[in-house]
Amino acid sequence: MILITGGLGYIGSHVNKLLSSLGYSTLVLDNLVSGSMAACKWGDFVECDLEDKDKLKEIFETYDISAVMHFAAFTEVADSVKHPSKYMKNNYENTVNLLNVMHEFNVNKFIFSSTAAVYGTPLSIPIKESHPLNPINPYGESKVRVEEELSKRSHEYGLRYVSLRYFNAAGDDVDKEIGEEHDPETHLIPLILDAAIGKRDCIIFGDDYPTPDGTCIRDYVHVEDLAQAHLLAYEYLKDGGCSDVFNLGHGTGFSVKQVIMECMKVTGIKFEVEIGERRVGDPSILVADSTKIKEKLGWMPVNSSLTNIVNTAWRWHLKLNFKNHHYFKD
Ligand code: UFG
Repeated sequence: MILITGGLGYIGSHVNKLLSSLGYSTLVLDNLVSGSMAACKWGDFVECDLEDKDKLKEIFETYDISAVMHFAAFTEVADSVKHPSKYMKNNYENTVNLLNVMHEFNVNKFIFSSTAAVYGTPLSIPIKESHPLNPINPYGESKVRVEEELSKRSHEYGLRYVSLRYFNAAGDDVDKEIGEEHDPETHLIPLILDAAIGKRDCIIFGDDYPTPDGTCIRDYVHVEDLAQAHLLAYEYLKDGGCSDVFNLGHGTGFSVKQVIMECMKVTGIKFEVEIGERRVGDPSILVADSTKIKEKLGWMPVNSSLTNIVNTAWRWHLKLNFKNHHYFKD
């Protein structure tokens, strides 16, 4: 059985759906702080906060867990700047609790949700895994601390891990069964789609960056491609693969303005766009070099065209906002 911490969250729930559809047995662990019971559709479920070591031990005693995929974490950069200790506690210290219990129960396969935020402001583009780790916010710092911990443990007692450094996770389940639902929402695509349905204004955070159109460039990768990478990482570890670290991005950068244009095209809705202030801590360009995971694990980001990302996000967005409409009733 594969334990999926944070399995009711955005990325964890997509991974759970994929694994379950392929016949893997999963156990979802979530503290319901940001995860939603609406995503509790596959596998077994336990409500638990990773701070609770006794409950964790009980879970490992009860279930036959062979590997852990660890998504549970706080993920907001701006929030982490305001509340750094909250990030160190939940993202780092609680991961150490989990690793300690895994060790006690001889579970030695671990797949970790890391982030491009570990690199900080990039020195070169596209970013390879060998780029220095120089996080510029507590969120990125908390993920670096976990990666260091993993490396240490893999040398000390043979923990085998894969750390997946996500670039900009985006898009939603093609069947609209689950999807992105953050509160508050801070991510670009759902915010633009909110503007398309008149729920809020569309604001570009700065158009004076050193990029062709002045807006920040990001590497958007479809959540179903991220899910596929977790499956490949699991199979790799199961087959005896050594600990490793991989970037997960499409390898193509799109500016905020390009993403807005794509959203207008997909939705068929023209809406006002305002230029606002820069958001603190935004690097101008983040684009991944994901050659390593393609070559070593055979991963391909087949769902990550910007059109597919926006299309699936739009279909989910409509369901989320108009679920009482007859079109979405079962
Ligand atoms: N943006 C806007 N307007 C908005 C929202 C976002 O212009 O209303 C811009 C941001 O300034 C940024 C881009 O859109 O330039 C993407 O912003 P997101 O918040 O969607 O994503 P980030 O690139 O800031 O962050 C993502 C993840 C983080 C992770 C980071 C890695 O959400 O968890 O990538 O660098 F740390």
